[in-house]
Amino acid sequence: MQATAEPVVTPVVNPHAVFAKAPYSERYAKTIEVSKRVRWDIERDVIRGRNFDYTKKFLPDGLSKLNELTFITSAEHRFLSQIQGRTYANIFGLVERFIGAKVLELSRDHWLGDQVALEALVRFTDEELKHQELFRRLERMTAAGMPEGYDFKPQPNDVASAVLSKSTWAVLGLTLDIELFTQAHYRASIEPDSELSELWKDVFLFHWKEESQHAILDELEWKREDARVSIRERDQGVDDLIALVGAVDGIIQAQATSDADYFVKCADRGFTSAQEQAIHATLLKAYRWQYIFSGVQEPRFLEVLGAMITPDQGARIKAALASLEA
Ligand SMILES: [Fe+2]
Ligand SMILES: [Fe+2]
Repeated sequence: MQATAEPVVTPVVNPHAVFAKAPYSERYAKTIEVSKRVRWDIERDVIRGRNFDYTKKFLPDGLSKLNELTFITSAEHRFLSQIQGRTYANIFGLVERFIGAKVLELSRDHWLGDQVALEALVRFTDEELKHQELFRRLERMTAAGMPEGYDFKPQPNDVASAVLSKSTWAVLGLTLDIELFTQAHYRASIEPDSELSELWKDVFLFHWKEESQHAILDELEWKREDARVSIRERDQGVDDLIALVGAVDGIIQAQATSDADYFVKCADRGFTSAQEQAIHATLLKAYRWQYIFSGVQEPRFLEVLGAMITPDQGARIKAALASLEA
């Protein structure tokens, strides 16, 4: 067979046109196929008529970091992991409010375009609404089974309004971080640990099953947005992303303080001020790991972000993250 002649002049390529072609479209289609296959129901598949067993931990040690608190008893370790589990449900109920709204907004770009992409984003939004309901349900269950005094201050709509005021490029970066860290959390939950709540293990399992598709869609939508923005807009997006990570850190700092105070008040013994500081520091370290670093350290996140930004922008992001590890 005769080879097709190469074009003499290289045509000017519109990145949007390139993006609209396969394999991107196939990747949207693949997420629909998997989404249909793994789809689960809150009651039938996750809760299954069960209640929480308070003789078990809710969060695995790989996430809770509680092995670093050597002066607490095993009962205190268990209770602190349950407090962290309750906060986990509340944080996800919070972030999924703005993620669902942003994905619904992005779907507008596909209304009269790629109907496969539109369906993928509609399913994504629908799943995120279901996840919010799951996490509200878990909060109600834990509220009934834990002592009075737990407080979760941030309001989902206030946080969502603040996040959605930032550029789409930045919101998609934060969203990919979040949806990749659910995969890291699932991996931590399947470490052998006979003291881990079976219901919480299922929460990690079922959430991960649907979040895996969300992370693929975040990446596709972030790349689409990245191809659309100007160099100056992308640079602003980097600043916005740094600001959003700072805002997440502000929320988890306040919650680490609130949760440490709640734990100390509920304990049936006193702690020294150094021990109280250690409890607070460990909760903050755990929350920073759970809600920031377990996502940004995922190789996929680094690969996608790294392909979009300049070395200078990368250095700005690295410096901002390093300031949280101090
Ligand atoms: Fe979710
Ligand atoms: Fe998600």
